[in-house]
Amino acid sequence: MTRGPHDPSDPERITAMAGDTELAQLARAFFLKTCEYRYSYNFTWLGMPVIQYPQDLIAMQEIVWSVKPDLIIETGVAHGGSLIFYASLLELLGGSGRVLGIDVEIRPHNRAAIEAHPLSARVQLVQGSSIDESVVAQAALQARQARRVMVVLDSNHTHEHVLRELELYSPLVTRGSYLVVFDTAIEHMPKSAFPDRSWGPGNNPATAIAAFLQTNRRFAVDGEIDCKLLLSVAPGGYLRCIAD
Ligand SMILES: C[S@@+](CC[C@H](N)C(=O)[O-])C[C@H]1O[C@@H](n2cnc3c(N)ncnc32)[C@H](O)[C@@H]1O
Repeated sequence: MTRGPHDPSDPERITAMAGDTELAQLARAFFLKTCEYRYSYNFTWLGMPVIQYPQDLIAMQEIVWSVKPDLIIETGVAHGGSLIFYASLLELLGGSGRVLGIDVEIRPHNRAAIEAHPLSARVQLVQGSSIDESVVAQAALQARQARRVMVVLDSNHTHEHVLRELELYSPLVTRGSYLVVFDTAIEHMPKSAFPDRSWGPGNNPATAIAAFLQTNRRFAVDGEIDCKLLLSVAPGGYLRCIAD
């Protein structure tokens, strides 16, 4: 790996960039403006719609490469693009890594597209609420058979739901791996951005993480990822598991 100013993780360069208030304002303005156009819906991964900002996908790729999980559990499947994204990374890593996708409603055309995808062998779907006891039991069973487990929360974004997910799924994450909570950015967006949603500023994944971290000592926010990305739907949402 290159060291110095061209090192992708050069802490000096990244810290300087993160401390640039003009850049932070520009990034925030860009983020808020793109949200008006539902920018996160613009992209596909290997043919499957993935509802993410490209910056977050790059961060997830870096995490998957460094952790090399053999199980990735994601709550919130939608069209399945993120599941196929993780499956494609696991395929490139070799080995037998698998993805478990949980969604309260897996629409038939989405299920058919996921099951017809060349990477479908690495994907298992579970339909049900992510906080339902039997669903959590299925995830826990898979996790018990894996050595390195990573969890991604991207389902219902209310405080109550995400906090419950954090309580239920955080024990499955192995030391050195990550618990990634998407859509913490809701906290910093105007209430008017969510006219038909039960979440908004004050009631979202960021507030759930704040409550969770008050008592949980196994996880810490990976601030370097936030500093690197500038543009992200998950500021403060990349939680590194630092203890058994
Ligand atoms: C933001 S989308 C997921 C996007 C997907 N992860 C991606 O990156 O393309 C949220 C999904 O969460 C699902 N969902 C909502 N409430 C849920 C719950 N209680 N349990 C599991 N999934 C839920 C919705 O059906 C929807 O498909």
